Amino acid sequence: MSESTQAGNQPGIDAGQRLSQDWWRTGIIDMQPGEIRYRGYPIEQLIGQVSFAQMIWLMLRGELPGRKQGELLDAALMSAVDHGPQAPSIAIARMAATCGVGLNNAMASAVNVLGDVHGGAGEQAVELYQDVARRIDGGLAQADAVRAALADYRDAHGKFVSGFGHRFHPLDPRAPRLLALVEQAARDGVVSGRFAAIARAVEAELGAGRSKPIPMNIDGATAVIYAELGFPAPLARGLFCLSRSVGILAHAWEQTQQGGRNKGPIPRQYIWTYDGPPQRDVPPARD
Ligand SMILES: CC(C)(COP(=O)(O)OP(=O)(O)OC[C@H]1O[C@@H](n2cnc3c(N)ncnc32)[C@H](O)[C@@H]1OP(=O)(O)O)[C@@H](O)C(=O)NCCC(=O)NCCS
Repeated sequence: MSESTQAGNQPGIDAGQRLSQDWWRTGIIDMQPGEIRYRGYPIEQLIGQVSFAQMIWLMLRGELPGRKQGELLDAALMSAVDHGPQAPSIAIARMAATCGVGLNNAMASAVNVLGDVHGGAGEQAVELYQDVARRIDGGLAQADAVRAALADYRDAHGKFVSGFGHRFHPLDPRAPRLLALVEQAARDGVVSGRFAAIARAVEAELGAGRSKPIPMNIDGATAVIYAELGFPAPLARGLFCLSRSVGILAHAWEQTQQGGRNKGPIPRQYIWTYDGPPQRDVPPARD
């Protein structure tokens, strides 16, 4: 029973107390002195029984996942923890760590740049897969649904389809492994496998008629898992932030231990390209 419900049943509770108890309403956590319950489960029962990934699921979704569902979520979360200092989030974590700030500041700086272009591709990919699924449910064949959804996606977002292609990896080694896990989970009856099929169909459509494919990347593959597990698209971005925070913390900590001071994004002997006016004299003051 929530505190507010208890309060409502307590004789003599006044309107002010009621207002103050109801100021924050949450179905996530309930506490009394000496008691902590998440989604109703006592913390002492969760500790030692529930993995971190299962706990993330419980917090976000309200119910505990099955063990295999938790393992699939765990695989998606662990697969995207780091992509080296070439990734802006990681470089920013390291730069921040050389500025004399604490780990929390370095982490916050880095997480703050995870947006539509860096780290947000998973959210858009989940939306695309769900759009294809809706069109299939509406009666279209899969190939037609993919073509129609891609056309609308490009009208809204431009030519690049989130979750596919990579600047560095001709084939992102994480994607096939994650897809293999999803397909195993589908064989085990843990997920339906429909979003894996949809993502593969999108990949085939993107590569059709090209000399080289445009393969699924980490965001496209983790998006398959999040869609298969029933996470709403916006949570794909939040989950990516949780995942990448591990790499961000590791790099911030390593850089802190290395002890660099005030490191900028490029070695100091290199300078940026200046394309402003040539040197000129400040004109005499005018009224
Ligand atoms: C990552 C990205 C910027 C790399 O783009 P890139 O450097 O142009 O990649 P390539 O040079 O290998 O592109 C080769 C061709 O495939 C096309 N292409 C690459 N990624 C594509 C995508 N996601 N959707 C459609 N076409 C794509 C390019 O336009 C290019 O076409 P062209 O030969 O007709 O000019 C691009 O793939 C992208 O924006 N992907 C979507 C965002 C995303 O998923 N980001 C997360 C990455 S982990």
